[in-house]
Amino acid sequence: MSKKTLRVSKIKDGTVIDHITKGHALNVIKILGIDGCSNGVVTIAMNVPSQKLGVKDIVKIEGRELNPEEVDKIALIAPHATINIIRNYKVVEKQRVKLPPIILGIIKCTNPSCISNSENEPIKPTFYVESEEPLRLRCRYCGKIMGKEDVLVQF
Ligand code: CTP
Ligand code: ZN
Repeated sequence: MSKKTLRVSKIKDGTVIDHITKGHALNVIKILGIDGCSNGVVTIAMNVPSQKLGVKDIVKIEGRELNPEEVDKIALIAPHATINIIRNYKVVEKQRVKLPPIILGIIKCTNPSCISNSENEPIKPTFYVESEEPLRLRCRYCGKIMGKEDVLVQF
């Protein structure tokens, strides 16, 4: 793209989620609970050329920062994403999302008879991350393998 034009404007204060896996911008919007009733400026860019990823999606949220659970959820579906905190037009913090080797809580096992889904058992769903991309999670309790689609329906 020519330097003369800027595809999406810079923001003054807020968060830029950059390097989102192509096709997942709207899932990031969903994770952040943004809908038609939300306030604040939100910019979505899809299929933007990227040196690192070929193409990527970007989401910019003005006037808001993310909480750790939101960042963990984004890591599940967009493991290369970077979270940039913007204050007064400057990037004051840049964090690459990171999937821990073990996911505790956040998502449920899709096997209905898994003990982690039993209401009588105080067991936190726990998954081993076997692969980040494509996402492959293995339930600690029943061995069920879950992929991105199984996770996305829960957000
Ligand atoms: N950005 C923005 N508003 C600002 C500053 C930055 O929207 N006031 C956006 C940039 O457009 C970019 C992201 O935040 O999408 C990160 O900015 P920056 O670190 O300046 O860009 P790069 O160096 O290209 O980032 P990286 O090294 O992570 O690829
Ligand atoms: Zn299970």
